[in-house]
Amino acid sequence: MTRVLVLYFTRGGHTAKIAGAIAEQLLSRGAQVDVVDINSPAASQIRWDDYQLVALGACVLYGTYDKSVFKFIAEHRDALSARPNSFFCVNVVARNPEKRIPENNKYLQKFIALSPWTPADLKIIAGKVDYPSWPWYDRWMIQLIMKITKGPTDPKTVIDYTDWQDVKDYADHLLSLIKP
Ligand SMILES: Cc1cc2nc3c(=O)[nH]c(=O)nc-3n(C[C@H](O)[C@H](O)[C@H](O)COP(=O)(O)O)c2cc1C
Repeated sequence: MTRVLVLYFTRGGHTAKIAGAIAEQLLSRGAQVDVVDINSPAASQIRWDDYQLVALGACVLYGTYDKSVFKFIAEHRDALSARPNSFFCVNVVARNPEKRIPENNKYLQKFIALSPWTPADLKIIAGKVDYPSWPWYDRWMIQLIMKITKGPTDPKTVIDYTDWQDVKDYADHLLSLIKP
């Protein structure tokens, strides 16, 4: 049975939800899946050799990624590269379909420039705007980003931009990365 490792960094929980949806789809295809938060104790006990495929996702925060993402990658670069692998990037600028094309998404380009691991496969997924759950300073900053990118600025806005069918398709695509 194919064993897949889905790793993620989340701040507010949405990237975790996406990782869970990927896992659910993989399970429905008969794979065995472990979903691990890179900042959880389980992340230091990963038995990499158990897996035929790995996907790592992270949300964009203020134009970049939490430093724990790059720390984890630096520690596990060889293990990540040793099997079919993919990186999925979650951000709200990707609510615009054009920004879901890797060459058009500056956050993905930034990841490629900064990451010690070069993923074999890349995916951009639109995230969630959830102003009421964010502290005022985050809300204020993201309202500013939204103003620039012509998105919602009403502080009551909660919009899930994730295309959940596309997330399922991505999970199926991941399985196709494994050579028979
Ligand atoms: C503090 C903060 C900063 C953010 N900065 C950006 C940004 O620069 N560009 C962007 O497209 N999305 C940005 N976002 C949107 C997040 O990437 C999006 O809400 C994502 O779904 C968050 O995932 P999480 O719930 O796993 O943390 C930001 C969100 C937060 C909370």
